[in-house]
Amino acid sequence: MVTADWLDIGRLNEIPVRGSRTVQVPGGEEIAIFRTGDNRVFALVNRCPHKAGQLSQGIVHGHSVACPLHNWTIALATGEAQGEDKGCTPVVPVRVDAGRVLIARAAAIAVAA
Ligand code: FES
Repeated sequence: MVTADWLDIGRLNEIPVRGSRTVQVPGGEEIAIFRTGDNRVFALVNRCPHKAGQLSQGIVHGHSVACPLHNWTIALATGEAQGEDKGCTPVVPVRVDAGRVLIARAAAIAVAA
């Protein structure tokens, strides 16, 4: 069920497989919503923890995304940089309901504050 707590950002089918789309949450920062090859959906602030590259422009592989600027690998579930790299991008709760993608509105605003 869609409530005021969840922001409907569109149909799952509108997000390309192994791709992403972005949404600007009023009062918050731009959020990137990723769809993986196995149809999982993840939402993160659209900002790499390294030097703020736009993760939405990166390449999705498995449950990670490679930042387009310097190729850090960011885990989509946790926002953590992988391997030797250190840093974390805030993640936002996301769910799919009847083919529509919903993100937690309050969390999206809080992580961006
Ligand atoms: S800004 Fe993302 S790896 Fe440098």
